[in-house]
Amino acid sequence: MPSEQPLRLLLLGPPGAGKGTQARRLSERHGIPHVASGDLLREHVQKETELGKEAKGYMDRGDYVPDDVMIRLICERVGRPDAEGFILDGFPRTMPQANALSERLEELGRPVDLVVALDVPSELIVERLSGRRLCPTCQRAYHMTYEPPADDEVCDEDGTELVTRPDDEADTVRHRLRVYAEATEGLRAHYDEVGLLVVLDGTGDPEDVSERIDKAIEAAT
Ligand code: AP5
Repeated sequence: MPSEQPLRLLLLGPPGAGKGTQARRLSERHGIPHVASGDLLREHVQKETELGKEAKGYMDRGDYVPDDVMIRLICERVGRPDAEGFILDGFPRTMPQANALSERLEELGRPVDLVVALDVPSELIVERLSGRRLCPTCQRAYHMTYEPPADDEVCDEDGTELVTRPDDEADTVRHRLRVYAEATEGLRAHYDEVGLLVVLDGTGDPEDVSERIDKAIEAAT
């Protein structure tokens, strides 16, 4: 059910924290776009665009794609007419990205209402990512134990055969967690200082995590 006031929310958290899972639910519930930086990049990789060719090496290694590329991609997306409200998943990840986003949203008159950071311990993340399967058509993520598709290895939405993400291999996951700790964790302090941050426990059932996020949204809007 779309709310009267379009929600503008950023989701922060390490790889596998459940950002995509929660963003998809929030997007359906609030009738606003789920803007996922990783999904947008994977679409470019799949279509073999220039941007996709540039991004692929970084993504496969678990490194961040350069800020200028990411800023162009996301600042264009949040300016589209359907983005009066949005759930931003995976962007920003660095201070230059955060600054560029806030300038762009100010220019658009679309300020962020809330930044939700999901906390999940590293050992649980490795387990979540080793069981993840992704639909290459609609980008929906499943987990073979926690959120399995109705039919083995096939997407519920469009029947496409599910795949494993190349960057979900255990060594790459550990590298991604290090990159996150070095480059992104500091963003929490920034959003805390500007009074937008809520840190939530991202463990437990996806429905329980959704309830925590809903309560935080109610309190903030
Ligand atoms: P991206 O696709 O954004 O990857 P990520 O941040 O590493 O996050 P994930 O998609 O791995 O995890 P998630 O938190 O969305 O978890 P999910 O809901 O799927 O980015 C990929 C790459 O692109 C980056 O490494 C980088 O190279 C590049 N990139 C992207 N943005 C960039 C930026 N801004 N700057 C620079 N480079 C950028 O859940 C994970 C699994 O757990 C699923 O199987 C799910 O079913 C399961 N699950 C979810 N919630 C629960 C729960 N509560 N209980 C049990 N299982 C659960």
